Amino acid sequence: MKIIKTIQELVEWRSQCEFPVDLVPTMGALHEGHLSLCEALQSKVLPNEKRYLVLSIYINPKQFNNSNDLDNYPVSMNDDIKLCEEQGVDVVFMPNNSDMYTADASVMISETQLSVNLCGAKRPGHFDGVCLVVSKLFNLVRPSRVAFGKKDFQQIAIIQKLIKDLSYPIELVAVETKRELDGLAMSSRNRRLLKEQRAKAPLIYATLQAAKNDNLSSTEELDIKTINHNLEQVFSPLEFKVDYLTIVHADTLQPCSSKNSQALLVLACFMGEIRLIDSIKLFDE
Ligand code: PAF
Repeated sequence: MKIIKTIQELVEWRSQCEFPVDLVPTMGALHEGHLSLCEALQSKVLPNEKRYLVLSIYINPKQFNNSNDLDNYPVSMNDDIKLCEEQGVDVVFMPNNSDMYTADASVMISETQLSVNLCGAKRPGHFDGVCLVVSKLFNLVRPSRVAFGKKDFQQIAIIQKLIKDLSYPIELVAVETKRELDGLAMSSRNRRLLKEQRAKAPLIYATLQAAKNDNLSSTEELDIKTINHNLEQVFSPLEFKVDYLTIVHADTLQPCSSKNSQALLVLACFMGEIRLIDSIKLFDE
């Protein structure tokens, strides 16, 4: 496995690389969810086909609207490298800030429809930062396939749109959310949960599942008011603070009140300072 730390080295490697390349962009603190993104790409490689798998590790400062969140983002470089090696990653790209963003950098990339609500509204500038770094990674690595996790449902919709609108010749492979045995969606931020918070965190998914079951038995309209009320009952005595809870169409991210196979119940909440997101499809296809 090759470790590349500069853009110059990456560009040289890529210009000499005669096989197609797959990419998993990450911010490190790798867990099974990230490995499942690698697996999703690796499982698409045909028996006699040669492709390279690049995994990038870069904590992108441009996508953090909260400096405290950036300062406390978990870092585990040595473990990450070991996991990549075991997973059969070919290249780990781990640039530093001054290489990624020169002091006079002034270009931004904004998605203007899918990013206005939900996390986009709650974390101003977040998706501009994501679009910028993802575009840079696409330009440098020139992958033909990339994998992203469905846990970040808004990010995945926006990147799909970025690929379409900027005509990147890239296939996006969307991978199901990987969960701990108790249902908590895997996230690098889970490492920051205190023991008591971690013990309560599975309630997030349990509550989404209960709401799904309630709506399955309802007949017509999706009842976000009742879901909200039930969630408040569970969350308020605990340390959870809901940032948003709503039902949206998975592709358009527009509010969705009638029964639809793409209806997604989405939730962002704080446990102390730590912001967690999760979602559930209300109807199985
Ligand atoms: O999902 C993430 O970890 C980040 O938003 C990404 C896509 C690696 C961009 O920094």
